[in-house]
Amino acid sequence: MNKFSRTVGAAQAAPFAPAATERSVDEITGGRRLRRMRKADWSRRLVQENRLTVDDLIWPLFLIEGENREEPVAAMPGVSRYSVDLAVKQAERMARLGIPAIATFPNIDQARRDETGSHSLDADNLINRATRAIKAAVPEIGIITDVALDPFTSHGHDGILRDGEIVNDETVSQIAAAAVGQAIAGADIIAPSDMMDGRVGAIRDALDNHGFQHVAIMSYATKFASAFYGPYREAIGTGGLLKGDKKTYYLDPANTDEALREAEQDLAEGADMLMVKPGLPYLDIVRRLKDSFAMPTFAYQVSGEYSMIKAAATNGWIDGEKAMMESLLAFKRAGCDGILTYFAPEVAERL
Ligand code: PBG
Repeated sequence: MNKFSRTVGAAQAAPFAPAATERSVDEITGGRRLRRMRKADWSRRLVQENRLTVDDLIWPLFLIEGENREEPVAAMPGVSRYSVDLAVKQAERMARLGIPAIATFPNIDQARRDETGSHSLDADNLINRATRAIKAAVPEIGIITDVALDPFTSHGHDGILRDGEIVNDETVSQIAAAAVGQAIAGADIIAPSDMMDGRVGAIRDALDNHGFQHVAIMSYATKFASAFYGPYREAIGTGGLLKGDKKTYYLDPANTDEALREAEQDLAEGADMLMVKPGLPYLDIVRRLKDSFAMPTFAYQVSGEYSMIKAAATNGWIDGEKAMMESLLAFKRAGCDGILTYFAPEVAERL
């Protein structure tokens, strides 16, 4: 009987006292003890399998018109919308922190929004002006632009709405044209988030026809019709506009084989990187995509995921910083090469 014996003292009375024939833990485990490597900080560090680094982070940045304007997003404590001049300052800050790339999302003036999102084609719209300004001031940071129509439509849908229907092919033509505009402005990666059929191939053709062979496509390959986008819609001012839901184009949260087919299709059409959105509730999809395609795979920890952690932390219900780090490490474990997260600057400062 050694010191690891699990036999308890004689003080313990029947009927739950150990039987004389009870096996020791070493007999049960065959001498294997997984806690051995967990016994100290140094040994835990030594066997750690996944690590989060600053190189894994992409920061989503909200834009507004005007000058010297910073407008906090109420539902996302710590997140603001910035006018282009301040967005440049933020991009400089991210570059200093070592964050490789940012992803921009414009809050377009309501007066500029219409049924078809035509302002998305304007070379001087908010997102394109921001790209030009950031590229000029901070050439070392990568710029990812979302090419969906929702910031530009009066109904908040990602596509052109006609007779109550999101019309696929017309939307695809417009998105491809808007992507060329974004590339001309200096975008490094075009990220279509609209889930229309054929968009990736159409964008690839359009970029190539205009000499933008070097501009990559990060496909929001598996974007689910999710409740976790709520705070984002407040941030870009589409929340009040949106009638109905996006179920005719986003994926059903119940489906995983369909997500695989979406990713396969986007890769066949020329996507360079895959993205899963939302993040934490869909880590099984990340793992499946990574295992199936071995492509650069990303996830978007969306606004609602951010707000949940912030809200609980503000109430003192969880340790916000630890929950933030743990959630991001979980993305790495699931197979992500990088994560779009509103926590990016906070995490980069910690790392
Ligand atoms: C739409 C789009 C969405 C997000 C970014 N682009 C979803 C939507 O409004 O339906 C969500 C981002 C987030 O919640 O953080 N093209």
